[in-house]
Amino acid sequence: MTPYRSPYPVPGVVWASLPLPALLIGLDGRIAEVNPAGEIFLNASSRSLMGQPAFDRLSIDAPMDEALLRARANQSPLFINDVDVTTGERPPVQCNIQVAPMHDNPDVILLMISPRDIADRLGRSLHVKSAAKSAIGMAEMLAHEIKNPLAGISGAAQLLSMNLTPEDRELTELIVEETRRIVKLLEQVEQFGNLRPPERRPVNIHDALDRARKSARVGFASGLTIIEDYDPSLPPTYADPDQLMQVFLNLIKNAAEAIQRGSTTQGAGHTIRLRTFYDLSLRLRRRDGTGGSLPLQIEVIDDGPGIPPEIAGEIFEPFVSGRENGTGLGLALVSKIISDHDGWISVDSVPRRTVFRISLPLVPKTQQDKPKSDRELR
Ligand SMILES: Nc1ncnc2c1ncn2[C@@H]1O[C@H](COP(=O)(O)OP(=O)(O)O)[C@@H](O)[C@H]1O
Ligand SMILES: [Mg+2]
Repeated sequence: MTPYRSPYPVPGVVWASLPLPALLIGLDGRIAEVNPAGEIFLNASSRSLMGQPAFDRLSIDAPMDEALLRARANQSPLFINDVDVTTGERPPVQCNIQVAPMHDNPDVILLMISPRDIADRLGRSLHVKSAAKSAIGMAEMLAHEIKNPLAGISGAAQLLSMNLTPEDRELTELIVEETRRIVKLLEQVEQFGNLRPPERRPVNIHDALDRARKSARVGFASGLTIIEDYDPSLPPTYADPDQLMQVFLNLIKNAAEAIQRGSTTQGAGHTIRLRTFYDLSLRLRRRDGTGGSLPLQIEVIDDGPGIPPEIAGEIFEPFVSGRENGTGLGLALVSKIISDHDGWISVDSVPRRTVFRISLPLVPKTQQDKPKSDRELR
């Protein structure tokens, strides 16, 4: 048998010294190259790996075919964090995955795997999960303790202002205003900690989107154009309608803020597009081995400046924010809600086009024939 020869040569030195496992995957889904770190990770020689279907050798707990398709179609990299990767008989390893089309041949995909232990050693994620957990617990406690005295401070400032000259009153107004800002921030922290389990029932996605859109229109997105690009035949999903609306509202808010941040015209001329469509190809494999189809797709697309590259890999972690006065809790809440709904969220961002995509399941068969509650009949 003639040895497999890769049609896609890569610079040897860089490739060989890369400390992270990396593969090149051709248009046919087969491994075209694997670096030495990849050979160790997959516990096989590059000779035996090359030419093999990539996802036969490497099982990744994420819709990888879809990720590759999107990376190719958009010619931009994609980050998938905290997924289980299984190779051969080893137990799954938690990894962050990066998928990027090759610069000179976008059909070829570079797939890099950062096992969490290596990522941590490189100082990239610093045990974000557990640190964040205890940080949230602590922040919640603090939030609760700080809110009461703040009310006192703000009340006292208002009393004081009655006997002051207009110049001095500006100072007390500042106290009141800043106190209000702190209270708002603390409320977000509390909200994150208090998230209740979803009360799921059949929900029309467009109703939830419309509620979020209306609320955005009268508030933070009043100067922006919001386009609806709906597939009206989309069947219902199985969700907590309030939590779903909260998810959409957070995504629209981030899009509006990004647009306004990158715009000299308060966002005039820019658009946020809300798109829904049906795509049966997406399946999520869960940890317990059960599989779920996630055919309902909702995208929030904006033409703002894009996600700052230095935080792109971590935006779903709590307290990661790329803007002044941000809490970094918005997307953490979104991702928690979506995962409580057995859904999937991914993001794809380049300047002038940022797409947050949510994929949700249909109403389970066992819930479809149930008599409707009063609320649903209304
Ligand atoms: N549509 C978007 N365009 C550009 N950057 C975004 C977008 N959505 C989120 N981001 C980035 O992700 C960060 C985290 O968002 P989020 O978790 O909602 O926290 P916060 O809004 O409080 O900063 C934002 O600060 C921003 O830098
Ligand atoms: Mg936000």
